[in-house]
Amino acid sequence: EKGGYDHFMLKEIYEQPKAIRDTMAGRVKDGQVDLSREIGLSEDQINKIERIHIVACGTAYHAGLVGKYVIEDLVRIPVETDIASEYRYRNPIITPNTLVVVISQSGETADTLAALREAKKAGARVLAITNVVGSSVAREADDVIITWAGPEIAVASTKAYTSQLIAIYLLGAYFARIRGTRAENELAHIVTALQQLPEKADQVLSDTTSIQEFAQEIARHEDLFFLGRGLDYAVALEGSLKLKEITYIHSEAYAAGELKHGTLALIEEGVPVISLATQEAIYDKMVSNIIEVKARGARVLGLALEGDQELHKSVDRVFTIPKTLPLLTPVLAVIPLQLIAYYACVSRGYDVDKPRNLAKSVTVE
Ligand code: F6R
Repeated sequence: EKGGYDHFMLKEIYEQPKAIRDTMAGRVKDGQVDLSREIGLSEDQINKIERIHIVACGTAYHAGLVGKYVIEDLVRIPVETDIASEYRYRNPIITPNTLVVVISQSGETADTLAALREAKKAGARVLAITNVVGSSVAREADDVIITWAGPEIAVASTKAYTSQLIAIYLLGAYFARIRGTRAENELAHIVTALQQLPEKADQVLSDTTSIQEFAQEIARHEDLFFLGRGLDYAVALEGSLKLKEITYIHSEAYAAGELKHGTLALIEEGVPVISLATQEAIYDKMVSNIIEVKARGARVLGLALEGDQELHKSVDRVFTIPKTLPLLTPVLAVIPLQLIAYYACVSRGYDVDKPRNLAKSVTVE
């Protein structure tokens, strides 16, 4: 049942190229994204959307953070991403032209479902991104985009996250076409880049030796930091969650620009830092943050794009991922972080697929 892999988590990490492909299948044709068969929002309704709230828990919330970035960039609609257990109790501003997007792998998470119900009660239209056909979230939402990741068994979510990202890109590209916020040729370019992702994800998965070595190294530590800016920060949060939940190593993800505002005090000799530097527009800023932590003795793994000539000068180890559009890098950047958590967990001898105190589906508050 584990298909030759030692654990479900590793199997599911390796299933990501397929999950990405399957989530795009049938939704992309001739350089265009078409979701009109699955979401009932008319063009007029899409044109009238004034704000979007993305609501979710855990890893799905982290996908939602990428969603804010992507949708604001492509569609120019203000997006707020919120944790479901916060949203449902905080009297958010919901108008008839608010679209609420709930993201849930299982479609059964209690807080997410309650947030969906609150949003509907307040008059919002609710669109669900979920992996389970017929789940409560799928049944109660007005519109549903199914992620075709297939069953996810490991408690630590991996392929569900990357397919949620794909669903978000599709939604962004679809809305951008209808609202005319991006030119057809730009959107076709994004579609082509999306179609290349499965192959690039395969490439990331093809040689993980240096990731395994780094994972063994950090397995001896009790504290670790992830740094990133922009989309890399959203991915850093997900990498940090993955590490915490299965290795029990304390870790924090920081927006690198925040270092000076407190965190830098925690960096001392030998502390491992995973620095993401995949965003070209803010690359130099990231490098200067890396130099700051290096100067205080951190042991730094830099995650960069293929062809990077700079990072090895300032970090201890570099892992590269294939180039894609900046907007799409989270799909590839998260994979090494999932693998670091996995191999560090194996090295520590903990139960990969069933971490302590956690359940796959959180159906109670
Ligand atoms: C972390 C993880 C959890 C879930 C969260 C939401 O690896 O799996 O953080 O992402 O419990 O679950 P769903 O997506 O089923 O609503």
